[in-house]
Amino acid sequence: MSPLPPSIPPTHLAIALSPSSSPSSTPLALFTSPTPTPLPGEALIHVTWTASSPVDLHRAAGGLLGSLENAYGPFILGCTLGGVVAALGEADADAQSQLEVGDEVFAFVQDGEARQAGFQEWACVPLWKVSRLTEGLKGKGVGMEEAVGVSCNLVTAVEVVGGDLGLALPWPKPEGWTPPEAGEMVLVWGAASSVGMYVLQVLKYWGYGNLVAVASEKHHETLRGYGARACFDYRRPGVVEEVLAYVESAAGSKGAGQPRVPFIIDCIGSVEGTLRPLTKIAEPGAKVAVMLPVIKVHASEGQPSELEMDVGKVLPGEWKEGVELKGTRTFLYAKNDFLKKHLQPEIVPALLEQGIVEPNKVRVVEGKTLLERAQRALDLLRDQAVSGERLVWRVAEED
Ligand SMILES: NC(=O)c1ccc[n+]([C@@H]2O[C@H](COP(=O)([O-])OP(=O)(O)OC[C@H]3O[C@@H](n4cnc5c(N)ncnc54)[C@H](OP(=O)(O)O)[C@@H]3O)[C@@H](O)[C@H]2O)c1
Repeated sequence: MSPLPPSIPPTHLAIALSPSSSPSSTPLALFTSPTPTPLPGEALIHVTWTASSPVDLHRAAGGLLGSLENAYGPFILGCTLGGVVAALGEADADAQSQLEVGDEVFAFVQDGEARQAGFQEWACVPLWKVSRLTEGLKGKGVGMEEAVGVSCNLVTAVEVVGGDLGLALPWPKPEGWTPPEAGEMVLVWGAASSVGMYVLQVLKYWGYGNLVAVASEKHHETLRGYGARACFDYRRPGVVEEVLAYVESAAGSKGAGQPRVPFIIDCIGSVEGTLRPLTKIAEPGAKVAVMLPVIKVHASEGQPSELEMDVGKVLPGEWKEGVELKGTRTFLYAKNDFLKKHLQPEIVPALLEQGIVEPNKVRVVEGKTLLERAQRALDLLRDQAVSGERLVWRVAEED
């Protein structure tokens, strides 16, 4: 248990999309928000760290899902937070959590929700979204800076593999269990992204052994350690042909109508960078899960991004008939009651503590003020300067 957090202030600082934001303007603003009181089943958390992710850029530079419309007040950014429990709402029969005031915690939360978004000094988070930063975790070298960036994309990995692709991930994993699809090829494109690294580690742990990764060559050794049997560099001009040649040699022949790569995960969702190459690889019967939003145009200095939430509208006529496209939307993972109850409170910390999943490398974004740190992280995302790492930064100035 860490020292108790400071006394709870009536208001606190938060980072939101500026009310005057247009996708091409400097979009972030610092403002003062009332500090909420925890409702039953919630924890009030003094937020010390957060992590920035591409979704912030999609919100700020692409107005993802109405984030620039300001219909319900300022849109506070931040899908993830770490800090110390300062108060607990009344007990909630549904909440399995054993949290106490003073516990250090980390959480994947809903950005845009003023109570729980991550880029603010105090947040009220439902207990089912909270993981404890245990002494066991710290003993494994997972401190707050490492932990704070994990949940969003580890939850995404479980959601895309178990939910969108329908591959079993039983928890706890029965002794000696192997999945029926253990030998089926799973292609992970964008494997050095934060999502991709967790996807590989999740697949490896649950026994999916025929994993193919596409990422920059400098990450291949790490990805082999995470279970990739073969790695390809997407920056090489003939990468699609190289992947197809490997599939030809490694997959052998399949029964009629059986795709040689039945499972494909696009961890990036870029029309030209990932989806177009995948249209040449996916065969009828393959399931292709794509991280949403699909990026038609990436934001660049002064230019908004163009995004699409319906993967079925992208590259029509270019997918072979019978390819099944799925758009991944992790924010909806709690529709699965088991995952809602167990994923963040229990499974995420256990996977880390047992060394099954290694956190992404972190890059600490420095800056004199909260706004400066948030803006610098957003600029790094806009410049596509993030590679095999997670951007984390300090929120409250004091513990
Ligand atoms: N809808 C959802 O539920 C959901 C959930 C989580 C994330 N996402 C989305 O998924 C995307 C990835 O998120 P993230 O946090 O994992 O991002 P990230 O780690 O910041 O992504 C950076 C990585 O992308 C890789 N990359 C870029 N273009 C690529 C390409 N054409 N082929 C292969 N790799 C490429 C780079 O790989 P190299 O280093 O190898 O160059 C780099 O390491 C984002 O758009 C995010 O918004 C969606």
